Amino acid sequence: MTYVDATFAPLRKTGQIKIHGAAAFDGIRKAGALAAECLDMLAAEIRPGVSTDRIDRLAYGFGMDHKALPATLMYRGYRKATCTSVNHVVCHGIPSEKPLREGDIVNVDVTLILDGWHGDSSRMYAIGEIPRRAERLIEVTYEAMMRGIAAIRPGATTGDIGHAIQSFVEAQHMTVVRDFCGHGVGRLFHDEPNIVHAGRPGEGIVLKPGMFFTVEPMINLGRPHVKVLSDGWTAVTRDRSLSAQFEHSVGVTESGVEIFTLSPRGFTRPPYPV
Ligand code: MF3
Ligand code: CO
Ligand code: CO
Repeated sequence: MTYVDATFAPLRKTGQIKIHGAAAFDGIRKAGALAAECLDMLAAEIRPGVSTDRIDRLAYGFGMDHKALPATLMYRGYRKATCTSVNHVVCHGIPSEKPLREGDIVNVDVTLILDGWHGDSSRMYAIGEIPRRAERLIEVTYEAMMRGIAAIRPGATTGDIGHAIQSFVEAQHMTVVRDFCGHGVGRLFHDEPNIVHAGRPGEGIVLKPGMFFTVEPMINLGRPHVKVLSDGWTAVTRDRSLSAQFEHSVGVTESGVEIFTLSPRGFTRPPYPV
């Protein structure tokens, strides 16, 4: 694997992993904080009876109010500002008029482009009282993401991240989705490298200061297999078991890792104190 100074790289996938400098950290830090602020704002709005389309419009309005463009709008034919993935939807759920119901769980994934930089983050939200197994799934998924992030430092590998996630999740008798992965992020939405959420220590590429990518594990209560519905986007568990996901955008620093999408209000996982 070769690396390129992101300042001089063309604005496309080049097969090289981009290494970002201090100005890039400033740029993505602002975009990440804005995406996180958007997810904070949504916490007070997500409750029984609210449609995922309403959530999407709120996120769109938030972007507009802050001079930020939702990256998913018109991305490969996608027409919404967010992905809203309910219950057995693994990812890429399309916002709709259908109201959320007591007991549902939903992931809202927002990517805001601010000043050319992408802040990509998602969180789970609980609709009223949810079943104990849904609570456990959300807790394990959040912890899995944070364990993956904790494995990041210069010299560690992408396999170390995947192993940290997979070993923890499987010890809880839950499964890691393989069909979707984290990705390089920055001035591009989806760049090299792929961050696979399962793996073995020492495998994959070696992490270097200045790399930006997402960690976004999708965890299922049942089997790991997914299928994409005929709308071309919505990915669901084949066995219809519940699925959860959290996502942070991060950067490798000289000493470890910086999370760009931490909640300004300190929100981590539900229940959110709103
Ligand atoms: N935000 C998603 C991610 O984490 C990508 C969604 S692409 C879309 O990478 F087109 F489905 F919106
Ligand atoms: Co992402
Ligand atoms: Co995302």
